[in-house]
Amino acid sequence: MSVDFCGLELAHPIVNASGTFDAIAAHRAFGDELLERFPFAAFVSKTVTLEPRQGNPPPRLWEVAGGLINSIGLPNKGLHGYLERDLPILAVLPVPLIVNVMGFSRDEVAQLVQAFAEREEVSALELNVSCPNVETGLMMGADPDEVAALVHRVRPLTAKPLIVKLTPNASDVPAVAQAAEHAGADAVSLINTVKGMALDPKTGAPWLGGVTGGMSGPAVRAIALAQVHAVAQAIEIPIVGMGGIQAGRDALDLMRAGATLVAVGTESFRDPTAALRIASELSELLANTGV
Ligand code: SIN
Repeated sequence: MSVDFCGLELAHPIVNASGTFDAIAAHRAFGDELLERFPFAAFVSKTVTLEPRQGNPPPRLWEVAGGLINSIGLPNKGLHGYLERDLPILAVLPVPLIVNVMGFSRDEVAQLVQAFAEREEVSALELNVSCPNVETGLMMGADPDEVAALVHRVRPLTAKPLIVKLTPNASDVPAVAQAAEHAGADAVSLINTVKGMALDPKTGAPWLGGVTGGMSGPAVRAIALAQVHAVAQAIEIPIVGMGGIQAGRDALDLMRAGATLVAVGTESFRDPTAALRIASELSELLANTGV
């Protein structure tokens, strides 16, 4: 089950989707047992922005059949707070740490990349150009030229692997993936959430404080499979596939579509140990299918 991902030796191909597993809170709740049976082969942090963010106004979640719409809005402590308070705790995790960053301009992303480039606790960086809950995130990731310009700008700043997290809310996702690859990205990850909306049944007004949100969970799995398959035909660099993974069978499907790693997201909200089960189911399937 071990896998080489951009030079990182991972024990198995299952990681977390950014922002769907709070390793710090989990460590508080489960103690060192979490470290002994850590569910993921690498840990991807919640998005870090340059300045602290409160996130979007509540309500932030709406459950749909087979999924969840979130409008969280990237709340986080900001770069300084992350380096001082989160990084020392995340550094003790028994797996490589991938830090997810997002900026409102290329310069902001460059400052974030530069700051993490110097930190040996950080094994790789994921550029979030795809959050549907902040306007700039969506615009940057939907346009191949914008993505190329961003990756060109930050590539010289770090030797660490750079993963570009793609939005499914783009007219030509493979073209965005190609732009990232040609500009020097080491990998892409997809899909982030699919733009969605819910209305308050009583008032008919938008339910979410951010008006629209991003949909995840099993309802988007077929979209993820199609997009990973399409992107895999267009690029050579590795893919981290995600979207509605609930079982080893789903992970195997994404790998057959072209993913090297598979991220578990919404399922971890239901069961924080889901990734352990999924990795073990995948191992059995790989043995039985000879893949
Ligand atoms: C959010 O915080 O709004 C979700 C993160 C994302 O979709 O990138």
